[in-house]
Amino acid sequence: MKKIIKMDRFEHQSIWYKNLLANPTEIAALFPFNAETGKLMTAHLEGMDEGYILELGSGMGAITECILQRQVPEDKLILLDKNEDFANYLSHKYRNANVFAEDASNAKKLLQAQGICEVRHIVCSLPFVMIKQEKQLSILDNIFKLLHPQGCVSIVTYFVRCPISKKVLGQYNKSSELFGFTMKNIPPAYVYQIKK
Ligand SMILES: C[S@@+](CC[C@H](N)C(=O)[O-])C[C@H]1O[C@@H](n2cnc3c(N)ncnc32)[C@H](O)[C@@H]1O
Repeated sequence: MKKIIKMDRFEHQSIWYKNLLANPTEIAALFPFNAETGKLMTAHLEGMDEGYILELGSGMGAITECILQRQVPEDKLILLDKNEDFANYLSHKYRNANVFAEDASNAKKLLQAQGICEVRHIVCSLPFVMIKQEKQLSILDNIFKLLHPQGCVSIVTYFVRCPISKKVLGQYNKSSELFGFTMKNIPPAYVYQIKK
């Protein structure tokens, strides 16, 4: 039994590192985010009782686990990552979740084709600082058009500033605030919340 668990962990890590080597700027993290970061990223989900949760850049599910610990039903979870290996891994792990291997800039069209026109909250670990500005704007337009008017986006970054400028947020009548910081992540991580 121990051997199988070890094999699984090895397999899990080899998918992560194989893809990191192939797409370093897209994955943009040596390690998945840790549980402490996940707790900060999912604090806004506490007590929510309806609607979908969209996770952008779900990777191999480090934050997904923390979302599920907030009692979000698996079938209300939308996991989106452009990396096919990651999406494939998550679709096998979370059989009831809605998993898509897609670019976040196609989120609105993709979800609408599934009959999903609105999401309650968003959890985002996309590496915004590595994404070209034009693509960033397209992703933001997609997510703010999908977000419930009272919804909140949590976003993680390794830098002290929110990766989305005040000017861009203002165009959607949103603002950001630093919600938390953890030294326990490698490297340390800042979590911002974006809402009305
Ligand atoms: C820093 S990793 C975070 C992974 C995971 N959430 C974790 O905590 O370990 C960023 C993820 O965003 C994905 N990604 C990067 N650009 C993307 C885009 N434009 N659309 C969708 N996913 C993207 C990468 O494939 C990668 O899995």
